[in-house]
Amino acid sequence: MNPMRIGLLGLGTAGGGTYQILLRNREEIARRAGREIHVVTAAVRDLDKAKAKFGLDLRLTTNPEYVVDAPDVDIVVELMGGIEPARSLILAAIRKGKHVVTANKALLALHGNEIFSEAQKYGVMVAFEAAVAGGIPIIKALREGLTANRIQWVAGIINGTSNFILTRMRDEGASFADALAEAQKLGYAEADPTFDIEGIDAAHKLTIMAAIAFGVPMKFDQAYTEGISKLTAADIQYAEEFGYRIKLLGICRRTDHGFELRVHPTLIPERQLIANVDGVMNAILVRGDAVGSTLYYGAGAGAEPTGSAVVADLVDVTRMHTADPDHRVPHLAFQPDRLSDLNVVPIEGVVTSYYLRLRALDRPGVLADVTRILADNGISIEAMLQREPAEGEEQVDVIFLTHRTLESSMNAAIAKIEALTSIAGPAVRIRMESLAS
Ligand code: NDP
Ligand code: HSE
Repeated sequence: MNPMRIGLLGLGTAGGGTYQILLRNREEIARRAGREIHVVTAAVRDLDKAKAKFGLDLRLTTNPEYVVDAPDVDIVVELMGGIEPARSLILAAIRKGKHVVTANKALLALHGNEIFSEAQKYGVMVAFEAAVAGGIPIIKALREGLTANRIQWVAGIINGTSNFILTRMRDEGASFADALAEAQKLGYAEADPTFDIEGIDAAHKLTIMAAIAFGVPMKFDQAYTEGISKLTAADIQYAEEFGYRIKLLGICRRTDHGFELRVHPTLIPERQLIANVDGVMNAILVRGDAVGSTLYYGAGAGAEPTGSAVVADLVDVTRMHTADPDHRVPHLAFQPDRLSDLNVVPIEGVVTSYYLRLRALDRPGVLADVTRILADNGISIEAMLQREPAEGEEQVDVIFLTHRTLESSMNAAIAKIEALTSIAGPAVRIRMESLAS
């Protein structure tokens, strides 16, 4: 059988990893796919850099449209990143009847509804395993392996860069800036690292997982997003004293009022496996009604882990290429005419427990004022810690862990606590999740 012919848009971290794996494991991959998979051309911005790295065998161009238009390209693999021109190139490939593989979660979270609808119309596949959690086959697990289940919730460490930063800060006392610079050097970070540290990249991935888990369209604009840039070493340390680790978690959960879609730093009990996932590793817990909890773990970023997921998609597309489009696995797991209009629950309607750190004047009556405000808002305290003031200081750190309460009640309580003259500066609030069944 003739080889399946690939056109790569991008030969950077993800594109380079994909290319190397296809070369190294060529035979093994052909035995699985039923035919060889050849990269015939690739688009980059800097030809000299690509030639120096990948040799002269490959037809290189600086014009990505050339790759999409090339008559000898069967599958277009978009690994450039960004919204434009990636969106237009993918739509052009689809309209030419070419299958697409992409790792571009930002594009799918924002324009996935348009892209999948166009792919449906033209009867082509758009595969995106590498878009979520790098090398972990979580898309396949959610879409196919767990297809019997009504998914109740998904919670994951789904940004390798921020997990890498938190681990370096905790284990080696590295500064935030140094740890981020190292993640960038290793090729983990997005072109704009704000996406990593402000939770935006995790929200892109969560949006995609929620769509597949609950059979809803992409609703990125309604995701609640909070990153790790304001986390302090002190909060990481206090959390540990209570037996918790802080992780940037993406959580989507079915509730009676719709589904939650939120990314934020989260205290997780250290006995949970996921609390011990460190460095660039990702992990995703999925709770299904039939299977119970399942956990998926692996490298969340980097050249070959990402390439591993891209090549898996290429093999899938190659195998299914000749199948009737109506008999393929639906892009978003559910049949496109059976998507649900489930609402996203606003963050004020989320119920969870909280870590609250206050800077309080060390004088009688302050704690009584704070506990009264919490009680008045229906918030009950699970644990409390007060530090001795440092030499010559009048203020102390006071930390509360609360039982589960409505976010809007916590907001009201925090506003009143911050208005007390005995409290200095803003309260630090970090949400907590037990991740129990
Ligand atoms: P890189 O910056 O490493 O690579 C981007 C590649 O695209 C480079 O080869 C670049 O060329 C090329 N490129 C960009 N714009 C153009 C253009 N207009 N015309 C031609 N070529 C272009 O990015 P990554 O590999 O890290 O990321 C790519 C995608 O994969 C992103 O969507 C990212 O979110 C996603 N992803 C990345 C992961 C990772 O670990 N890095 C993991 C999972 C997903 P040149 O080299 O000449 O500049
Ligand atoms: N910047 C992303 C991360 C790449 O750090 O997780 C993988 O999607």
